[in-house]
Amino acid sequence: MHDTLLLFGATGDLSQRYLFPSLQHLLRDRLLPPDFRVVAIGRSEHDDGGFQAWLRERIDTPDARDAAALDDLLRRTHYIALDLGDEQAMVAALSPYADRPSVSYLATPPDLFVPACRGLKAAGLLEDPSRLVLEKPIGRDLASAHEINTALKDCLDESRIFRIDHYLGKAPVQNLLALRFGNTLMEAVWHNRWIESVDILVAETAGVDGREGYYAHYGALRDMVQNHMLQLLALIAMEPPSMLDADSIRDEKRKVLRSLRPMSVADVAGNSVRGRYADGVVDGAAVRGFRHDSDVETFVALRAHIDNWRWAGVPFRLVTGKRMPSRTTEVVVTFKPVSHWVFERPSRERARSNRLRMRLQPEETIELGLMGSLAAPEWGATELQPMSLDLSMSPSPKRRIAYERLLVDALKGDQTLFVRDDEVEAAWQWIDSISNAWQGANTPVQSYPAGSWGPTEAAAFLPATLSGNGHGKKPS
Ligand code: BG6
Repeated sequence: MHDTLLLFGATGDLSQRYLFPSLQHLLRDRLLPPDFRVVAIGRSEHDDGGFQAWLRERIDTPDARDAAALDDLLRRTHYIALDLGDEQAMVAALSPYADRPSVSYLATPPDLFVPACRGLKAAGLLEDPSRLVLEKPIGRDLASAHEINTALKDCLDESRIFRIDHYLGKAPVQNLLALRFGNTLMEAVWHNRWIESVDILVAETAGVDGREGYYAHYGALRDMVQNHMLQLLALIAMEPPSMLDADSIRDEKRKVLRSLRPMSVADVAGNSVRGRYADGVVDGAAVRGFRHDSDVETFVALRAHIDNWRWAGVPFRLVTGKRMPSRTTEVVVTFKPVSHWVFERPSRERARSNRLRMRLQPEETIELGLMGSLAAPEWGATELQPMSLDLSMSPSPKRRIAYERLLVDALKGDQTLFVRDDEVEAAWQWIDSISNAWQGANTPVQSYPAGSWGPTEAAAFLPATLSGNGHGKKPS
């Protein structure tokens, strides 16, 4: 395991909210090497003491172990103020850290990836076996992503580039693989013969506050669908890999992404909805709508098709939005109805298709919706009703920040939960088809009140499980 982490963007939001707290937890749980050290790099002028005081104010210490771990982290952290556009300054400040193999983590805007990489190379920090970690977004479309990927390859080999999609670090996302490939039952019914549709919903109550500039340039399609939602889709739809190593999994994910049917101008009207939140109420508080000159969406609903043997004819509905009524991330797999109904009529009216519902957030649960009967034999007719089988882990595993796992894997050099260049580009290719089709069709961005489930046009895209226990009704 490498023991030197160079963290670029150390005073940014991601570092404060997730990366430093993750390091604190990993130190607390003794999951980092004994000589672990952090070189924190930012633009703000701080000396070590100033940076440590700044960070201390921003990190929670709910108990004595966390407080001790924070002290330990601060002791191991050295701060350097640097302009990443100045290669000479980078060489002067960073070359002393080339004494040990390191991981350089670029938690910076993507326009700094290439200059930072060149500076790191010149400072001797990208020599084998040192590694580079990049945050999303990798580009804004296929062309810019390809440009970044090509420039990175001039600095180091793909086998040492770690592109983060933090959804892959979430425990229930890994559980998806366990569920699919660790059980005979699932794989036997995991195809278009038995599955009717798949829903992937990522709803957030948060708005875009504080990130208006970034968001106005990206929108929900590029911010959420290109990465997190397509990674979920790829894990759900991929063929079983022959081995569980990084490239076997990534080969299969890439095949799925390349099988996504591109959207044309003629397709987008019935298969997509764009929305943007207006003033409204979320969690009982009045919130202002997202106002910006750019034509950008904060909500998107898509009906995707995967053109291969396994998934032909099965719609994948993808919905994501900001300022929704609740924070809900879930995957719902709906199976086909039974082919012949033998029970009484009232039961038929209550009949629901079997559903596998995996909740990722806010709580982690897995439920299988089945039909069952509670009727006593003396009642005569067998009355069926929806039931649900709780498959959630018990006791539930300790919840960790997704970045904890990803940081450990990057330090260890395991690329399984990181995204390869060709996956990123395959995802962009499909996303480009949608944004081009939206442009060609002049697809409007519909307004929706903050605190609602998006524009009314999107109702047909929402999973039927959104409320209730797995057999609930769509919100009205
Ligand atoms: C980020 C997006 O990648 O993921 C944000 O840029 C979004 O807009 C966030 O809010 C959602 O992550 P999570 O883990 O809170 O679901």
